[in-house]
Amino acid sequence: MLGDEGATLELLTVGSLEVEGRLVEASNATLYCTISRSGSTAACVYKPVAGERPLWDFPDGTLAGREIAAYAVSKAAGWDIVPPTVYRDGPFGPGMCQLWIDADESVDLVALARSSGDARLRQMAVFDAVVNNADRKIGHLLPTVGGHLYGCDHGVCFGSEYKLRTVLWQWRGERLPAAALAALERLRALLADGELATELAAWLSSAEVAATVRRVDMLLKHQVHPLPPADWPAVPWPPI
Ligand SMILES: Nc1ncnc2c1ncn2[C@@H]1O[C@H](COP(=O)(O)OP(=O)(O)OP(=O)(O)O)[C@@H](O)[C@H]1O
Ligand SMILES: [Mg+2]
Repeated sequence: MLGDEGATLELLTVGSLEVEGRLVEASNATLYCTISRSGSTAACVYKPVAGERPLWDFPDGTLAGREIAAYAVSKAAGWDIVPPTVYRDGPFGPGMCQLWIDADESVDLVALARSSGDARLRQMAVFDAVVNNADRKIGHLLPTVGGHLYGCDHGVCFGSEYKLRTVLWQWRGERLPAAALAALERLRALLADGELATELAAWLSSAEVAATVRRVDMLLKHQVHPLPPADWPAVPWPPI
């Protein structure tokens, strides 16, 4: 399925969406669905905008739109951390629709989240710094049997003030790996190019787009993993 991302995006966009159930532990309306179209079927998550709880610190746009913006950034940098995600209409109105990733249940997520030698996880920490992720929990790590590491739940990203809240602080203050710098350079060039910034502007305020560019510039300038913010809880609660 993920072999052809274009086909997956198309299926997510135009397929018929059927709600199978609600992910009960989720705080917003997060629905587990199947999506199908002429013989292709996949599982997905659908989060209707109508089910979003208002958040004082994310007054602009929608949480669903932030998930689309996170997908665009992950894709542009070549990280492929966010599963294919689209904005579309559904049985409860417009919202985000994201491919369901079957996580490898044999992976100990707590051990994975605490490890410091996993390049995929470290890449995710850089991605989180770029999108200013305010909710990187252990349960948002989705390692696949094939060895890819996805992340989910990017609704509270892109605040214009520094609000990084994550379980992945193990590299704080350490030098960014060369691969991260290359990805950041790529991202910076695409942000300057216009198309990516235009896409982000569809989902974020202009201050939030500008802050995203600034965070990439800061990372490229200092070339280190960020330190925890002093005036903001640095780890999500509960961390799982
Ligand atoms: N694309 C996906 N593939 C596989 N599992 C997913 C995906 N998206 C979400 N999940 C699973 O569903 C859970 C709830 O989804 P998510 O965290 O996005 O919802 P939420 O409404 O923001 O919930 P909360 O506020 O509790 O974090 C995730 O922790 C994860 O286990
Ligand atoms: Mg969540």
